Amino acid sequence: MASPILFSTFLFILTLELDASQVMAAPDCGPIQATDVDRIEFALNLEFLEAEFFLNGALGRGLDSFAPSFAKGGPPPIGAKKANLDPLVAKIIEEFGYQEIGHLRAIINATRGIPRPRLDLSTQTFANIFNQAFGFKLTPPFDPYLNTINYLLASNLIPYVGLVGYVGTLPDLTSSDFRRLVAGLLGVEAGQDAVIRALLYERANEIVLPYGKTVAEFVNRTAELKNRLANCGIKDEGIIVPQSLGAENRTNSNILSANTDSLSYARTPPEILRIVYGTGSENKPGGFYPNGAGGNIARRYLSPA
Ligand SMILES: *[C@@H]1O[C@H](CO)[C@@H](O)[C@H](O)[C@H]1NC(C)=O
Ligand SMILES: *[C@@H]1O[C@H](CO)[C@@H](O)[C@H](O)[C@H]1NC(C)=O
Ligand SMILES: *[C@@H]1O[C@H](CO)[C@@H](O)[C@H](O)[C@H]1NC(C)=O
Repeated sequence: MASPILFSTFLFILTLELDASQVMAAPDCGPIQATDVDRIEFALNLEFLEAEFFLNGALGRGLDSFAPSFAKGGPPPIGAKKANLDPLVAKIIEEFGYQEIGHLRAIINATRGIPRPRLDLSTQTFANIFNQAFGFKLTPPFDPYLNTINYLLASNLIPYVGLVGYVGTLPDLTSSDFRRLVAGLLGVEAGQDAVIRALLYERANEIVLPYGKTVAEFVNRTAELKNRLANCGIKDEGIIVPQSLGAENRTNSNILSANTDSLSYARTPPEILRIVYGTGSENKPGGFYPNGAGGNIARRYLSPA
């Protein structure tokens, strides 16, 4: 038998290594197991968020004034309101809002649907995100509803998360009906994201008042924040970037965020939850979803209250 001292030293080292590996636990960036219906119902969380933010932002009223049954009894959002938008952007956002109603209808028809989760779209939620992005408190607190540029900066957080989620989920779907649905959703989410980013790019060098930072810097900081929260590498990019992130390493304009072959990035549901909760953990709700997101996938990461 080996000397007991040697043996206990070995155990001690083993324990140390286990502890170190727990502290530096690699984030989970790999595929998840789930049914097609659960994957598509997960997307409802983001579609509800977009519907409420766009409809309220453009019109001052949300899903409950257009299609109340889609909410399946889920509570109305907190803090969503009409934004002070210029006529062009108001028209665009109004259209996006109606598109989200269509997306909800298509998904609910194809699945069981889930109750609308509690959504917090208050100024405070957005202010926290932008504070986190810059690493200090912006004064006055960032208000997404104040003017067109602020609303576009806030909107830039939203369809993109849906888009990368659809890119991630599509290859895992077994049914061709569901793949057709997700391809159709993906196309329009990508279009919305492109429009928002093109509008931001037009104003890239404008200063966001009164913060003394450019639009491009705001987009860069929020992209960096999302990459940090999701913790699975660079999948979110600014609108003006080093050439190493630009298309074919040949340009620093970056209207569309994409990988080295100019293909869209993909994110898993846990990555998306880490971002939209603003906590960096799929187990810790917060941000836009104070009570957590709905559906089987999101619920499995929430420990019982
Ligand atoms: C609802 O789903 C069925 C198939 O499940 C499909 O044939 C029909 O077109 C869908 N209707 C809407 C409004 O999306
Ligand atoms: C943000 O800007 C910095 C400085 O130009 C750059 O190094 C970084 O790659 C940008 N990040 C993203 C995600 O675009
Ligand atoms: C661009 O540069 C990066 C390194 O910064 C490299 O990994 C990538 O392959 C290059 N892309 C192309 C299309 O040459």
